[in-house]
Amino acid sequence: MRMVDIIEKKRDGKALTSDEINFVIQGYTSGDIPDYQVSALLMAVYFQGMTEQERADLTLAMVESGDQIDLSGIEGIKVDKHSTGGVGDTTTLILGPLVAAVDVPVAKMSGRGLGHTGGTIDKLEAVPGFNVELSSEEFTKLVNEIKVAVMGQSGNLTPADKKLYALRDVTATVNSIPLIASSIMSKKIAAGADAIVLDVKTGAGAFMKDEDQARELAHAMVRIGNNVGRQTMAVISDMSQPLGRAIGNALEVQEAIDTLKGEGPKDLTELCLTLGSYMVYLAQKASSLEEARKKLEEAISSGSALERFKDFLAGQGGDASVVDNPSGLPQAAHKIELPASQSGTVSTIVADNVGTAAMWLGAGRATKDSEIDLAVGLMLNKKVGDKVAAGDSLVTIYANDLAQIEKVKEKLLESILISSEAVKAPALIAGHITGE
Ligand code: URA
Ligand code: CA
Repeated sequence: MRMVDIIEKKRDGKALTSDEINFVIQGYTSGDIPDYQVSALLMAVYFQGMTEQERADLTLAMVESGDQIDLSGIEGIKVDKHSTGGVGDTTTLILGPLVAAVDVPVAKMSGRGLGHTGGTIDKLEAVPGFNVELSSEEFTKLVNEIKVAVMGQSGNLTPADKKLYALRDVTATVNSIPLIASSIMSKKIAAGADAIVLDVKTGAGAFMKDEDQARELAHAMVRIGNNVGRQTMAVISDMSQPLGRAIGNALEVQEAIDTLKGEGPKDLTELCLTLGSYMVYLAQKASSLEEARKKLEEAISSGSALERFKDFLAGQGGDASVVDNPSGLPQAAHKIELPASQSGTVSTIVADNVGTAAMWLGAGRATKDSEIDLAVGLMLNKKVGDKVAAGDSLVTIYANDLAQIEKVKEKLLESILISSEAVKAPALIAGHITGE
C-alpha cells in the first residue's frame, strides 16, 4: 500500500477502505508516514469529507493506536459524558454524584488541561484532601462501592489523535466535521465508555459557534458511536452566554453543591437534568427519559444526590464537611462588585471574554505550566434577559492578586452589554439527537 495512492483516492472524492485507514493511522503513529503526506490527506478530507464507514473506521483506528482503559471490573453499563468546549462548565461535577445516586456507575478519567478554569480534577482539588492519584484497583473499588470516582488520566490514550490534532492545528484542517467527530469519539471510546452522552455547545462561547454546524457535529458523533457499538445520544446546548453563574474552581464546587441541593442556577440545573436523564436511560436504570428525569429530580429533593457527593469526596480523602460549611473551600482575599454603568436589560454576555477575564485572575491556565489559583473567579449576578438598574452589581469578582484587576473589570464591562430594549433569555437547549 502506498500513501500517495491513498491521498490521490481521497483527493478524487473516493472512500477509503478500513485497511487504508488503518495503514495511515498506524504508519503515522509509528512515524513511518511523514507529516507532509498526512497534511495532504487531511486537506483532501477537509474538502471531500468522509463516509459514515470511513468515520467509524478512523475512530477505531485511533482508539487502537494506544492504550485502552479496561473498565470491565466495574459493574453495570459505564456511560460517559462529554461537553465540547464552553466556559466554566460545572456539569461534570454535578452529574457524577447525581447519576450515581440513582445507581449509574461513573468512572471518570479527567485531565487538567488549559483554559478559562481548571479541569474537573483541578476543581475537585479545591476540596481539602481530595486525592485524584488513584491506582486502577482503588478506582474500580470506589466506583463499585460509591458509583462515582474521578482519577487523573493515565496511560497513553489515542496517540494518533494527539499527533493528528497538532498537525491539523497548523494545516488549517481543524474545522472538519469528520475529523472533529472521530477525534472526540476516539478519546471517549479509548477511556472505556460503553455508552456516551454528548453535550455539544453552540453560540459565541462554544467551539462550534454556529448552530447548524453544532447540529451536524452532534449527528456525526452520534452516528459514529452507534456504528461502533456504543449507544450515543446528544444534546445541543446554548453557550452564547456562560452556563450557570460561577466561573472559577472553588466557586464551581460551591455551585455544584447548590445545584445538588436543588438551589442551583436554573439553566445549569436544567442541562444537568437533561444530560443526566440520557445517562440514566443509556445505563438502563430507567425505561424512558421521563422516568429517568423523575428519578434524578427525586435524588435532588430527597437529599440523596447531595449525600452521594459527600460520599464521593470522602471516598477520595476529601473533607466532606465543606458541603455543609463552604468556608472550608479556598477563599479569595478580595470580593469586588462590578456595577452596571446604565439601566436596562442584559442583552449579551460574551462567554469567551468572561472566561478570559477569569483566567487573568488565575482561575485557569494560559500555558501548561501556569499555576491555578483555586479560590479566584467570577460570579455572574445577572444573565441575559435580566433587568438591571445602574449601580447594580453585574459580577462579583473573587481575586487574590489585584495587579490585573483594572484589566479584568474593563474586559467584563466590554463583554456584558446592556440594552434599553426588551431582551429574551436564549433557549438553553437547541436540539436533541437521540439516535436512529
Ligand atoms: N476537540 C477535540 O477533541 N478534537 C477536535 O478535533 C476538536 C475539538
Ligand atoms: Ca459555571
